[in-house]
Amino acid sequence: MAIIDAIEAIFLAFLAVIANLFAGMIAGVLLVKEIVFKVFGLNKPVPHPRSILITGASSGIGAELAVRYAKPRTRLILVARNVTRLEKVKKQCEEKGATVEIASLDMSDSKAVKSYMEEVDKRVNIDLVVANAGISMTPPKEGELFSDAAQRLFDVNVFGVFHTIAPIMEGMRHRGRGQVAIMSSLSGIFSHPNLSYYGASKSALVAFSRHFRPVAAEQGIRLTCICPGFVETPLVQEMRDAGGKLPGFAVMDVKAAAKVITKGLERDRPVIIFPAIQYWPVHMTSTMPPFIQAFWNYMALKYPLAGSRQS
Ligand SMILES: NC(=O)c1ccc[n+]([C@@H]2O[C@H](COP(=O)([O-])OP(=O)(O)OC[C@H]3O[C@@H](n4cnc5c(N)ncnc54)[C@H](OP(=O)(O)O)[C@@H]3O)[C@@H](O)[C@H]2O)c1
Ligand SMILES: *[C@@H]1O[C@H](CO)[C@@H](O)[C@H](O)[C@H]1NC(C)=O
Ligand SMILES: *[C@@H]1O[C@H](CO)[C@@H](O)[C@H](O)[C@H]1NC(C)=O
Repeated sequence: MAIIDAIEAIFLAFLAVIANLFAGMIAGVLLVKEIVFKVFGLNKPVPHPRSILITGASSGIGAELAVRYAKPRTRLILVARNVTRLEKVKKQCEEKGATVEIASLDMSDSKAVKSYMEEVDKRVNIDLVVANAGISMTPPKEGELFSDAAQRLFDVNVFGVFHTIAPIMEGMRHRGRGQVAIMSSLSGIFSHPNLSYYGASKSALVAFSRHFRPVAAEQGIRLTCICPGFVETPLVQEMRDAGGKLPGFAVMDVKAAAKVITKGLERDRPVIIFPAIQYWPVHMTSTMPPFIQAFWNYMALKYPLAGSRQS
């Protein structure tokens, strides 16, 4: 590492201080605006969604969101592959008074996903779609390359999301309203080196959401990116089984996570990112110069916390 790198880093740190001062000023202005709007009752809350489609609703965060949204006069459309598990979630939601429909779909089957989403949106006019289905990367099978496993991962995590939301957004555009939630991850901001492919798939969703939100807004559609840290679900258990070291205290309860997500969607937040204790260090690292990130990665491999190696 040359001296020039260190000088550049100091200069960037200086710029970061100025940028953050500006951010602080904008935050102050927004705070005053919020208080004024609250006092005069000018805030327009997001209307309660009546028809909600959730992918990956058979387990974990998706199932918990379904149960949270379940109430009378609400129609839920729950999508995943495993019908046995979908039926179980369906029953729980019906007990809370919701009307529930399930669909067994593999997110990597682009044709089936597109035609189902188009059909269901024509029939029920979706108010809120939560594109949540996702997998972590399991090591490649015997004789397979890592790129083959990565292809499967991107088919589900990235293209599965696009094929879910695009046909529904087409309908929302005509209706001039709707809400779209895309499930990314803190790994999409800055990931553990053991999760490089998974992190890359989630980064694609962060980048897409960030740039697409204003485009969607022009069509009356609210678009939110969800970036949770570790949440106690079968996905995290899978990482543990693959040798990942995830201490219990670093993993959030799934009920608490679902609550944060629904509250954030009610407020139409651009990004729902939590818990703060994980978000802050991850965010800070993501803004640091590359040689500091490389050092962080080196430490993360030496003193591991998460994931199993993907390369
Ligand atoms: N848990 C965490 O720490 C964490 C953190 C950040 C982000 N996330 C993200 O949150 C989302 C949900 O994860 P989770 O933790 O709740 O994991 P999970 O319990 O394993 O749930 C994953 C869901 O996705 C579905 N799914 C997986 N592959 C599918 C496919 N090919 N086609 C259709 N559905 C498929 C699964 O259902 P079937 O098996 O029945 O198909 C299941 O309902 C994922 O996108 C994940 O990346 C999780
Ligand atoms: C579906 O889930 C049930 C319950 O978890 C499990 O017993 C069954 O093997 C799963 N089916 C498939 C096809 O994966
Ligand atoms: C990363 O992967 C290696 C090799 O699979 C494994 O030994 C290590 O425990 C993993 N690190 C973490 C943090 O899980």
